[in-house]
Amino acid sequence: MSRESAVTCKGITKVFGEGENKVDVLMGVDLEVYKGELLILMGPSGSGKTTLISIIAGILTQTAGDCLLANQDINHAVDNEKTSYRGKHIGFVFQSFNLIPMLSCAENVAIPLLLNHVDKKIAEERGREALKEMDIGQKADISPRNLSGGQQQRVAIARAMVHDPDLIVCDEPTSCLDHEMGLKIMGLLKKISVEKKKTVIVVSHDLRIVNFADRIVHLEDGKII
Ligand SMILES: Nc1ncnc2c1ncn2[C@@H]1O[C@H](COP(=O)(O)OP(=O)(O)OP(=O)(O)O)[C@@H](O)[C@H]1O
Ligand SMILES: [Mg+2]
Repeated sequence: MSRESAVTCKGITKVFGEGENKVDVLMGVDLEVYKGELLILMGPSGSGKTTLISIIAGILTQTAGDCLLANQDINHAVDNEKTSYRGKHIGFVFQSFNLIPMLSCAENVAIPLLLNHVDKKIAEERGREALKEMDIGQKADISPRNLSGGQQQRVAIARAMVHDPDLIVCDEPTSCLDHEMGLKIMGLLKKISVEKKKTVIVVSHDLRIVNFADRIVHLEDGKII
């Protein structure tokens, strides 16, 4: 079976700050992720997991090296092309959720659809459906600020999947969920990867979910080991 490449990282380095404050976080990361694969990325706290997936998703730019998505160099595209590509093809679950408290949960989840010019009413309706899939449909009309951490996490996951992206990147998606809900969410991500051939990258410390992975990679000292 030939495997189609979804993400190719070649010699990725990332340096934050300068002079005395300089931190070398990634030191030559090589990583290939295939279409339809569910990859779990593990590694100690501070090893650069969030930094790496942020580069993959185009939220940060690498200091050196190449990062290709479906063989395209998105990080060096002009800004509006990069934004448009990300908006269509990538779903991202932030470690700290990044939900907007002034909006209801359904409006938060609808954001990726609005960015793709879906009509507001339809976008919110699809937002509600996505929340139902996460067992949180009853919270659609309230602000995420009134939800527990685990509930907010599920809103964030719904937002990352609502626009049917090719690549879903999740930073610790089960950190606030109880065992049963964690397994349910991972089951859903697995189903999407298998049935829809979507690529899923999950950063996690959670040993309860390793069985969902097609492959597990470890980041240590700025490199994949
Ligand atoms: N914007 C920034 N400026 C300076 N240093 C940063 C910045 N972002 C991250 N770092 C540093 O980069 C290193 C890696 O951070 P990162 O958040 O990628 O780690 P992580 O593996 O996701 O950790 P955790 O498991 O705790 O979430 C840390 O030492 C962190 O302090
Ligand atoms: Mg992190």
